[in-house]
Amino acid sequence: MSAEGPQPPSEAELAEMDRDQLLKLGGELDGVEIVDYPEPWPVKNTRAERRAERLVAFWFVLSALAGLAFVVVLAWPKWWEYKAPSDPTGHETYSLYTPALGVTLGVAVLALGIGVILYTKKFVPAETSVQQRGDGPSKEVDRATILAQLADAGNRSTIARRSLIKRTAIGGAGVLGLAAAALPVASFIKDPWKDTNNKDSLWHTGWQPQFAGEKVYLRRNTGSLDEDVEKGVTRVRVEDLDAGAMETVFPYRDSEKGDREALAAALTRVDNPVMLIRLRTTDAARVVKRKGQEDFNFGDYYAYTKICSHVGCPTSLYEQRTNRILCPCHQSQFDALHYAKPIFGPATRPLAQLPITVDEEGYLVARSDFIEAIGPAFWERKS
Ligand code: FES
Repeated sequence: MSAEGPQPPSEAELAEMDRDQLLKLGGELDGVEIVDYPEPWPVKNTRAERRAERLVAFWFVLSALAGLAFVVVLAWPKWWEYKAPSDPTGHETYSLYTPALGVTLGVAVLALGIGVILYTKKFVPAETSVQQRGDGPSKEVDRATILAQLADAGNRSTIARRSLIKRTAIGGAGVLGLAAAALPVASFIKDPWKDTNNKDSLWHTGWQPQFAGEKVYLRRNTGSLDEDVEKGVTRVRVEDLDAGAMETVFPYRDSEKGDREALAAALTRVDNPVMLIRLRTTDAARVVKRKGQEDFNFGDYYAYTKICSHVGCPTSLYEQRTNRILCPCHQSQFDALHYAKPIFGPATRPLAQLPITVDEEGYLVARSDFIEAIGPAFWERKS
């Protein structure tokens, strides 16, 4: 505001001014010259105006529907429950889960944004003004006048009487807010405890026998089950690994013999992979066994879960010279000579050890499932 410009009114004068007067005063005090200030819709309730209103409402409604669809996809078990590629009915739906989340959330945000932009373009007056810039903090009179200007802009945008736009905007933003609030609780929707004694619960793996006394062999993944089911299953014999070697093995239950679906599922179940390590004899002599697990190995053979105890990545790297098992995700290292206890990195618990032995035919078999839960910590886990 220049020294030669209009003088600010007294407090009493200010209190008596209506919005239009404050608006005009604000411009004068700030040296603003309004060059053009057209009404967006000078003639009320024309067809074009109503069409513009419906267009804005359409985008807000679309945003609300897409937000709702996002919440439904997020919460509906048919979408997120894992179905293996071998499942002809379920896998296709499962494979659409992530794209469906992305598309619904994307459309919800995009539609809300388009609605806001369209409302601004169609209903907020586009004035053209020239203003001199002033320095320093705003005076009381400036604050009062800018508030009047903002209120006037809102008034001229006719938002007060646009109940359709107001309701749909609130609906769109509200549903989107619901979707945002649903995200952090989504992990609780997948209830791993719906059947605690089921073999699929967090306490058991595919190494658990289906019935007492069932043999569970250590099996290689040969990558083929197509032609001859039994040919595709190769059990590991005690002489198969050289000293210092490591191989990833999977469970092969007696009861799954000839069952193509079960045999394929055993290779994809996430808690099944086990590292079978044959230590060199000189290294095996230095092994320190875990209390209560002194007989879990068979000779120089030790079997540890491949699921890292930090956050569950596959600990696929075995360094033969140092006998260290490495997890590539966050560089945890486990000592294979010391019941796979962590010696470096963020992991704090040893890798669970699978108790193994050899049957009368010379095949390596699991003596039982793991005696503890494998992988990362979870709420009910004590250790
Ligand atoms: S998951 Fe293995 S170190 Fe983090």
